[in-house]
Amino acid sequence: TIKACIFDLDGVIVDTAVYHYKAWKRLANSLGFDFTEHQNEQLKGVSRVRSLQLILGWGGVTKTEAEQEQLATLKNTWYMEMVNQMKPEEILPGAKEFLTTCRAVGLKTALGSASKNSMTILEKIGITDMFDAVIDGNKVSKAKPDPEVFLAGAQALGVLPEECVVFEDAIAGVEAAVAGDMKVVGIGSSDVLKGANLVIKGLDEMTLDKLYKL
Ligand code: BG6
Ligand code: MG
Repeated sequence: TIKACIFDLDGVIVDTAVYHYKAWKRLANSLGFDFTEHQNEQLKGVSRVRSLQLILGWGGVTKTEAEQEQLATLKNTWYMEMVNQMKPEEILPGAKEFLTTCRAVGLKTALGSASKNSMTILEKIGITDMFDAVIDGNKVSKAKPDPEVFLAGAQALGVLPEECVVFEDAIAGVEAAVAGDMKVVGIGSSDVLKGANLVIKGLDEMTLDKLYKL
């Protein structure tokens, strides 16, 4: 039986995936190269440091560890400039409604995000109190596709992994959920999110009926 839903943040609850892309693109451009939207799919769900390493690799650029730290901080500054202008209306269609539905029928809810900025974002859009547990990049050491973030979520909620359904827009996130022995609903395109039990375009397409049929 399904007892809990664990939600990724960026690209599932809010469209911050676009802000991440813009900030990384600006950083790559400042270093004299560019990367495609297709390459960007590989960055989704991946930690800040790992994302930077992938991007530097695409550009064939080598940086010391200290320089990498500066670059990651710079990207985060640009990213947060966009996040700080976010309004509650920027919550993705159906997200608040589905969270409310889950809670109304007694399903537990958790956030399972790689982001270290998740609390700021939840506060910006005013949905901090809709989660029984928040597990984010400040609490885990192993990034998706490692299942640590979702397993920690299940543990915090007091449920078993197989009683959880994960909602994810990232390839790495879908892999993490599968590795954690959880059911997973992909948010996006089924061409990209192979391995998901169900793929929908957004949480506005999600229903309890679909959830219980997983
Ligand atoms: C994930 C995003 O949710 O968080 C990634 O999909 C991002 O793109 C990662 O790199 C880390 O986020 P942050 O906010 O800590 O840089
Ligand atoms: Mg995501």
